[in-house]
Amino acid sequence: MSGKKLVEIKNVKVYYIIDGLQVKAVDDVSFDIFDGEVLGVVGESGCGKTTLSNVLLMSIKKPLNFIDGSVTLNTQNEPLHLQKLRRDQLKRDVWGKEIVIIPQAAMNALMPTMKIKDFIYDVVSPHFKNITKDEVIKMAKERFEEIGIDKEAVNRYPFELSGGMKQRAVIATATLLNPKLLIADEPTSALDVATQKMVLKTLNELMNKKIVKSIVFITHDIATVRQIATRMMIMYAGKIAEISPIDDVLREPLHPYTEGLLLSVVTPEPEIRKRGIYTIPGSPPSLINPPVGCRFYPRCKYRMDICEVEEPKLEELKPNRFVACHYARGRV
Ligand SMILES: Nc1ncnc2c1ncn2[C@@H]1O[C@H](COP(=O)(O)OP(=O)(O)OP(=O)(O)O)[C@@H](O)[C@H]1O
Ligand SMILES: [Mg+2]
Repeated sequence: MSGKKLVEIKNVKVYYIIDGLQVKAVDDVSFDIFDGEVLGVVGESGCGKTTLSNVLLMSIKKPLNFIDGSVTLNTQNEPLHLQKLRRDQLKRDVWGKEIVIIPQAAMNALMPTMKIKDFIYDVVSPHFKNITKDEVIKMAKERFEEIGIDKEAVNRYPFELSGGMKQRAVIATATLLNPKLLIADEPTSALDVATQKMVLKTLNELMNKKIVKSIVFITHDIATVRQIATRMMIMYAGKIAEISPIDDVLREPLHPYTEGLLLSVVTPEPEIRKRGIYTIPGSPPSLINPPVGCRFYPRCKYRMDICEVEEPKLEELKPNRFVACHYARGRV
């Protein structure tokens, strides 16, 4: 990949520790987020997507524990090593201003008794020394218009808005301070296809108008991610299986798990479609005692002896295509 690195994640291990047991939810993960990209993060339920979003913000609360690694945010002035900052520093200098998250099911967390403008004021005002409610509302209305959302929505209660409108209002509010990175965790999951499209359009507007520099779009839905992502990261059992430009992944998945995911949905690509529909047998391993070699080994139709004993490293097998798989390495 060319371009500036906005965030660099190196060898991050983040585990839930409960009654002395470690759930290795994000286990030795390294990747970069580039300026100008929409990185789609895909994988089955429980593979660590939401935990990874907490890592990007360095919002780590017990029982989650930061074990090792680094998360570096390249700001205009100097790189910020997020893992070294205290919570109050993160709150003051990073969250909302530099990196913002739309948490999973955020739109359902809106207070039913609060109008959207009251919610916006609550979110935005702590970032300013002196700002009136009218000023915040004016700012919000301008931004709603800029990205194609009806500005009168700010005067409504959540129950007066459709699911799509609520989600778009939450996204517009979260990005009012022009953060560099927006993380959206399953922003379209509870929505119908037409409404999903509206939410994706709002996210595209944020990129086109350069309100945010990059988006990390988390989903388990390949059909949605292909409509917005420029690059795709496939996670499996707390690790990265593959990171590649989206068109390359869709045309030629290199990791057997990526292939399985694509074959489990109806895709328009003829090369993939002619292989038929397929369900990956078995289920993901426990993250307390994951397999020693490749974590996908027990479910992999291409497995070899080495896969059971040696963990494959994430390697650049083709230009810009990073894959952790012994079988794929032997084929390219
Ligand atoms: N509070 C917690 N305590 C213990 N384990 C947890 C906790 N939260 C998540 N986990 C475990 O960590 C792993 C990763 O969970 P995570 O929520 O990050 O997955 P996910 O990919 O976001 O899943 P989904 O698609 O369902 O949102 C799972 O095995 C999950 O059971
Ligand atoms: Mg999740």
